[in-house]
Amino acid sequence: MCGIVGFTGNVPAVPILLDGLERLEYRGYDSAGVAVVSPGRGLQIQKCKGRLQALRDRLEALPPLEGTVGIGHTRWATHGEPNDVNSHPHVSQSGRVAIVHNGIIENYVEIKDFLLHKGVKFRSDTDSEVIAQLLDYYFDSCADPLDAVYAVLSRLEGAYALGILCADRPDMLIAARKDAPLLLGYGDKESFIASDATAIIAHTRDVAYMADGEVAVLTRAGIQVFDEYRRPIEKEHHFIEWDVSAAEKGGYAHFMFKEIMEQPEALRQTISPRLKDGQVVFEELNMTAEDVGRFKRIFIVACGSSYHVGMVGKYNLEKLMRAPVEVALASEFRYSAPLVDENTLVIVISQSGETLDTMAALREAKSLGARILSIVNVVGSSIARESDDVLYTWAGPEIAVATTKAYSTQLVLLTMLGLWMGRCLGRVADGEYAAVVSELQVLPDKLGEILSGTDIYQYLASLYFNQDCIFYIGRNLDYALGLEGSLKLKEISYIHSESYAAGELKHGTISLIEPGTLVMSLATYDPLLDKAVSNIVEVKSRGAEVVALTTEDHRQRLEAIASHVLTIPRTHPALQPNLGVVPLQLFAYYIALHRGCDIDKPKNLAKSVTVE
Ligand code: F6R
Repeated sequence: MCGIVGFTGNVPAVPILLDGLERLEYRGYDSAGVAVVSPGRGLQIQKCKGRLQALRDRLEALPPLEGTVGIGHTRWATHGEPNDVNSHPHVSQSGRVAIVHNGIIENYVEIKDFLLHKGVKFRSDTDSEVIAQLLDYYFDSCADPLDAVYAVLSRLEGAYALGILCADRPDMLIAARKDAPLLLGYGDKESFIASDATAIIAHTRDVAYMADGEVAVLTRAGIQVFDEYRRPIEKEHHFIEWDVSAAEKGGYAHFMFKEIMEQPEALRQTISPRLKDGQVVFEELNMTAEDVGRFKRIFIVACGSSYHVGMVGKYNLEKLMRAPVEVALASEFRYSAPLVDENTLVIVISQSGETLDTMAALREAKSLGARILSIVNVVGSSIARESDDVLYTWAGPEIAVATTKAYSTQLVLLTMLGLWMGRCLGRVADGEYAAVVSELQVLPDKLGEILSGTDIYQYLASLYFNQDCIFYIGRNLDYALGLEGSLKLKEISYIHSESYAAGELKHGTISLIEPGTLVMSLATYDPLLDKAVSNIVEVKSRGAEVVALTTEDHRQRLEAIASHVLTIPRTHPALQPNLGVVPLQLFAYYIALHRGCDIDKPKNLAKSVTVE
């Protein structure tokens, strides 16, 4: 999704903006631009379609843009094709105002009509340009730029994070936010705005998260923040725990590979503070055992891989709590008139904490009285802020578009939550509880064992990278795991892939199996191993190549029937998907590598999906 960075200080803005935009590249974009303002020279803008390097090349070929106040943007096209004109910043007709915008202005047609009737000429096909033109329109009648900003915001419907420069006020950058992420960075005689902390972490770790309706004025003297009624407010400051190295590749070829390798440590960070004397302890929860006892319905709501975590979670939570749990895609849940009331718990899962559908589902559930508990990676994100309770995954910044370490930490945290709620309800036997806790303690090490040898995945990728379609099959927890394995593969390698509950094969899918078709058979769920074996025989007899994934103790049995066998250490069944996902991540990674794909930035995808 679009990325915003802004700067006010005493040094040239452009290098800082370009560095920030580079760190936001992972969010996904198709064009980029910067604008600076300086006394005497007014607004200077450069923007173009394509990678940031294209913008850098263009800037190098021209006289430098001089100014110590500026805004930058990476655009992920929604309204209007990716081209130079539709890129941000957008400038008003008179050249007085430049803006960068993340989000969608839903009533832009109406505003555009209004301005067209006033004789304003538009250059781009974007919804965002109306903001620049409307600001310019209000500047005629408003003495103070802030008056104009408030007048414009009162007319906008939709979502926005905004950075605004005015030619008449070269000392000032204005920011505003509604339903799209934006944070403020406090430096030494310099201030920043950014879509996320990675953009400015090299300059400051002292940040504040803007809330909906807030407007900020940044000058060299500091940052003033106002609420939606223009009352000055004091923002709570947060210290970013991780440093700039966490958002850099550190010698790895790709962020995705680095993040796969970081999983043991990420799991440790997520698990250890919550295990005390053999008990799962959530000091951060306001929820009591009595609250848990009151819930009559439990939903898990999320998108994409986070939804896949929910799929595993359903199996685990139902077993641990002996209570029904429903999993819903956020984009479906929000429009399904969900049967939710004050006796409902909605568990919301999101790495970014900004996914628009997930956010909308949260708000829908909240408006119906549900209690919201979110599992989120990005501290201070919108979903975290609007939830009644938050459990943070301490995975650190995840830069690769395809999630790996965030998925793993979400998964373990959800299982721990199930264990904790099961105990609150008195429904987990002591032995079972102790068995899961004891495996939680060694889970990071077991995951590390899988990562210690990657040759087999490279070898399999060299055999199968030319496949047209790869199927994932499994039952129960292995079915839920296959959904994630299949998504990992298709999103980064562009190979078509499907994941099926293995028991469904006979009901249609098996007709797709031909000689040479690759089937990834997931057989890590011990209670259903015999069934998995039957399914392998079934597809093999139709000519499929089978790569089986199982635990070490079943290697021999599966070697007798599968084409290749991948093994993982054994753990408690509830935690087995936490280990099972790792070979699937590595397989997808090496397949994409063989195919020469842009692994960290797959085509058409964005890291944080802040549009519907
Ligand atoms: C896939 C992936 C996406 C996200 C989805 C939800 O690798 O990363 O499917 O899981 O877009 O994002 P969050 O978790 O940020 O809400």
